[in-house]
Amino acid sequence: MADASTIPPGAPARLPRHVAIVMDGNGRWAQARGRPRTFGHKAGVGSVRAVVEASANLGIEALTLFAFSSENWQRPQSEVSVLMDLFIASLRREVRRLNDNGVRLRVIGGREALVPKLQEQIAAAETQTQANTGLQLCIAANYGGRWDIVEAARRLARDVADGKLDPETIDEGCFADGLSLADLPPPDLFIRTGGESRISNFLLWQLAYSELYFTDTLWPDFDTHAYEEALAWYAGRQRRFGRTPAQARQQQGA
Ligand code: FPP
Repeated sequence: MADASTIPPGAPARLPRHVAIVMDGNGRWAQARGRPRTFGHKAGVGSVRAVVEASANLGIEALTLFAFSSENWQRPQSEVSVLMDLFIASLRREVRRLNDNGVRLRVIGGREALVPKLQEQIAAAETQTQANTGLQLCIAANYGGRWDIVEAARRLARDVADGKLDPETIDEGCFADGLSLADLPPPDLFIRTGGESRISNFLLWQLAYSELYFTDTLWPDFDTHAYEEALAWYAGRQRRFGRTPAQARQQQGA
């Protein structure tokens, strides 16, 4: 839970516990400057740093970033290769800073398909930060929401086949337990930069009741100020979860 003592004055009154972001627009940002798309990905690392730092300072509990989707393998091999190198270099460079700030890092997605060097770097970063109790930083790599749901279904099917689970007892709770991020609250706020209004196979199950924020700002331009604007927008939302507006107001204490 966001600890009120860590929230600086001027921060939005109602903070999300969990923010999930689709970081879109790197390629267009670079092309607008006459540079290759990969220049935009490199610039995007600066925005990653800014939102991680701001989230940790604000006392947000969890931040999940969509770094590489299961569909991104279809991009030119040269771009995929630069992205993999960038993830390796960023993990290596940032892990000490994450540790100093109490950030715990984990990667979700089918990591067995990632290059071995990246898998090693991920394992090292997860181990080095596993005892940290501050911001939970989740990086989605080779991730897809449908993949996540199928994995959860497969786990349940195995338990049924092994005689450990009665199919009649399967409910939303035990299904959700098999998904990525099961130990975290679902995202309260979803942000997508880059002007598209799509979820693009991100956390399909987990986003069921998230507030969806779309901005034209391209990811490398998404700085602390832009993030604060998104958080302020979120603070003004009324979350109803199927209730009436009056019930929701009562629930939110407004
Ligand atoms: C989408 O923009 C962005 C990506 C597929 C890669 C995101 C990667 C980073 C921000 C690099 C750093 C990440 C970490 C976690 C260290 P796009 O290429 O689809 O842009 P476009 O829509 O303008 O073409």
